[in-house]
Amino acid sequence: MKIKTIEQHILDQQRKFPGASGEFSGLLYDIALAAKMIAKQVNRAGLANILGSTDEINIQGEVVQKMDKYANELLINILTHGGKVCAIASEENENIVEIHEDYLVGKYAVSMDPLDGSSNIGANVSVGTIFSIHRKVGKGYRGSEEDCLQKGSHQACAGYVIYGSSTMLVYTTGTGVHGFTLDPSVGEFILSHENIHIPEPCKIYSVNEGNYNYWNEGTKKYVNYLKEVDKASVRPYTLRYIGSLVSDFHRNLLYGGIFLYPADHKKDLSKPEGKLRLLFEAAPIAFIAEQAGGYATTGTQRILDIEPEHLHQRVPLVVGNKTEVLRYEDFLRRG
Ligand code: AHG
Ligand code: MN
Ligand code: MN
Repeated sequence: MKIKTIEQHILDQQRKFPGASGEFSGLLYDIALAAKMIAKQVNRAGLANILGSTDEINIQGEVVQKMDKYANELLINILTHGGKVCAIASEENENIVEIHEDYLVGKYAVSMDPLDGSSNIGANVSVGTIFSIHRKVGKGYRGSEEDCLQKGSHQACAGYVIYGSSTMLVYTTGTGVHGFTLDPSVGEFILSHENIHIPEPCKIYSVNEGNYNYWNEGTKKYVNYLKEVDKASVRPYTLRYIGSLVSDFHRNLLYGGIFLYPADHKKDLSKPEGKLRLLFEAAPIAFIAEQAGGYATTGTQRILDIEPEHLHQRVPLVVGNKTEVLRYEDFLRRG
């Protein structure tokens, strides 16, 4: 069997772009390094006094878990020292993190959810890291918010790491989706899933159905449709919901499925709102989904076409098999 490490894979990709400086490859190595360090900490979380919450509430109004803080600080540390990044936007920071004047400024802006699904970590449920990379567009030497506030279709790269029964890194640069499994005995990510395509038919749906009564009519009708018995098709679909986007999306990517976090009236009766964040969750996941042959929408708009207005913007997200996501849009149109 031919073994290919993530480093070899990144170099192979780089060779397809003559003139590439290697800065981008270096940035991916840095992310892979941070992922290995977070994986190590997640694996010994029960022993290391790193489970549980801090006294802090983040910009999203959510309790910060110790692991959220650890993952965020570690990634910021590695990325700001690496010389490849001009700005970092993180779910855990209100404003962008600028590069300290003692360090080199690179040409990439990184947006990230350092630890996704962290409320599950105490129960040993898989968590993840999500990242999105844009090329610097601002004119100044240093990076600014403008470099992070770019639409999803302009991403140079998007990926996630899943800390599960094994640790996997899945990413795309716009030429397919590739997955690497960490071999902990040698500390290397090895290519294990080349050119991932979301399989048909779609058999799974993933949604927090406890929010049913807060949804609009179209969403209710669509989810009811998935549960109808129809011997001629795969309905009723199987419901699988972990409550950790990376894990729910990863399973659906490999097995076929649709994930929904629609707008709901849970917080504000007059204004339906999505929960997931455009820059840190929806846009990178949408890029990966489309590269795997799937699709992602708010219900009325392609996720990758949204022009971000602010760093912590939330959007409804429905992502998975294309025919299924388009069917959802159709149900919303009909109301
Ligand atoms: P995070 O841990 O980064 O705050 O993200 C949690 C998100 C996401 O992972 C998941 O899909 C969703 O919250 C689950 O929300 P509900 O508990 O409302 O279903
Ligand atoms: Mn998250
Ligand atoms: Mn998070």
